[in-house]
Amino acid sequence: MRNILLLILLTAFLFGCSSREEPPEAQVQEPAERKWWKEGVLYQIYPQSFKDTDGDGFGDFRGVIEKLDYIESLGIKMVWMNPFFESPLIDNGYDVADYRAIHPRYGTMADFDEMLAGFKDRDIRFVLDVVVNHSSDQHPWFQSASSSRDSEYFNYYHWWLAENGDPPYRYSLFDPEGGWDYVEAVDAYYLHTFAEAQPDLNWENPELRQEVYDIMKFWAEKGVDGFRMDAFQFASKDTTYPEFPEGHEKDFIKWYGMRPQLHDYLKEMYAEVLEPFDVFAVAEGAGSTLQDAHDLVDADRKELQTAYHFEYVDMSRTPAGYELADFKEVFTRWDSAFAENGWLAVFLSNHDNSRLVNRFGNADPEFRRVSTQMLNTFLLTMRGTPYTYYGDELGMTNIDMPEIEEYVDIDAIGKYQTALKAGRDMEDFMEELNYSSRENGRTPMQWDTTENAGFTTGTPWKRVNDNYRQINVAVEDADPNSVLNHFRQMTRLRNENLVLVYGEYDLILDDHEQIYAYTRSLDEDKMLILLNFSDEDADASLPSSIVPGEILYNNYDSNPAEGSSVLLRPYQAVVFQMNE
Ligand code: NOJ
Repeated sequence: MRNILLLILLTAFLFGCSSREEPPEAQVQEPAERKWWKEGVLYQIYPQSFKDTDGDGFGDFRGVIEKLDYIESLGIKMVWMNPFFESPLIDNGYDVADYRAIHPRYGTMADFDEMLAGFKDRDIRFVLDVVVNHSSDQHPWFQSASSSRDSEYFNYYHWWLAENGDPPYRYSLFDPEGGWDYVEAVDAYYLHTFAEAQPDLNWENPELRQEVYDIMKFWAEKGVDGFRMDAFQFASKDTTYPEFPEGHEKDFIKWYGMRPQLHDYLKEMYAEVLEPFDVFAVAEGAGSTLQDAHDLVDADRKELQTAYHFEYVDMSRTPAGYELADFKEVFTRWDSAFAENGWLAVFLSNHDNSRLVNRFGNADPEFRRVSTQMLNTFLLTMRGTPYTYYGDELGMTNIDMPEIEEYVDIDAIGKYQTALKAGRDMEDFMEELNYSSRENGRTPMQWDTTENAGFTTGTPWKRVNDNYRQINVAVEDADPNSVLNHFRQMTRLRNENLVLVYGEYDLILDDHEQIYAYTRSLDEDKMLILLNFSDEDADASLPSSIVPGEILYNNYDSNPAEGSSVLLRPYQAVVFQMNE
């Protein structure tokens, strides 16, 4: 029974899901208080897959430097880069062995400084990934801690002493064997929420907390503008380790995350680092309720500026797909909960997911272009800071990987082992994995039509998608109708219209099965957004109060509105100025 539950969990890659509840009462903060981290579009770079300049097959900082003008041309205002620190790379860098050193694969600290200066010259803010729920087991703290109970670092980690018997079961997201591992030298078990090689840090220990703040100050002094707090909702544990009920894993966040002390740590971090250095922080995960998310990000709490939750990406993780009605409901519920107070990021895709167009759109060559444009239009017209993952500005797609031998990701391999153990039909399982694996989202950036898509002159660490000759920056740059050029049009529209950032969001045509339609309004400025989420024409009658005016964005040539009637082509996306 436990295996089946674990499998469901692993399949969903459940870092978060939110129960349905009423939005909490409005509190004190005005969401319209202007901030750069609300207004700018964020672009996420997975550095090992972006651009290689030394031919080792891994992307590097010099590759990013080479592409700074391209990045600027996207109209984005912030970059979040996944971890590039010294690491044994068991989880592609989410296992840090030295938080102040650069992994040589990416270059040197001088390269980092040059890259950061290049972003600053272009008014692009830089967000660093801070991985401090856990370290690598190769970090000197853990190496020392696991050698003797007398080590000054022993209390930097969570231990269950063997003389107390077997540790109470704890779930691990990456390890089918569970969350404890035994170390003979100290005759104790250490806790790991993720892989065995990612021991959880002990945030109850003030010395550990101070170490983390010092690391953050080191990077803030270098000039980084923000921090993305990896898996931080798990940083505080119930260290009395009570027994959890059978099946509790399906509410993983509820049982393992968002312990009350987390808020004390965040307030301390805010006072020590965020406020004095005037930097912002975004939490990966926002708890399991709307109130959890408010507790993290409401301004008067002085904890974090923003967070992102997983409820809408969770609905897209299996080939069964999602219902537009649910998608609308989730976005509308979260929007209304944060209409008065707090601010969230909005994303549909990142390095932990397969490609945007495969999950939410239609990757079939007939519809790939228009459906990605439609999804990007959605992302860039919602309230909340839009996070775009590299390659989604081109409409990059999943890569077909039917054989387990090709997988290198610890998450995929863990899921495979769990499925085997649970006796699952492995053909079914591989079909699911091929669709949902996060390896799909990590293939090399497609720059041009030359070998390896211009990503590397060597052997790429990961196979380049076969479709790179059609889908790449060079080809799309030259095509005014490409996903890329439409992405640029949409960021320009957002950058020039505060209504798309701060304006109120109102859902219309609520029950329409193909069309997602809403208005955004800020004082007199009103826009109407019509999106056809289906591969067929879709018609509707607009309410009499909604009068479409000038078209500001359209991914087809045809105007879909005639009076109050609209007829949208497959995946058509249109933004109208509204007339009174
Ligand atoms: C969340 C990150 O996004 C994911 O890539 C990583 O594997 C886990 N945290 C562990 O750090």
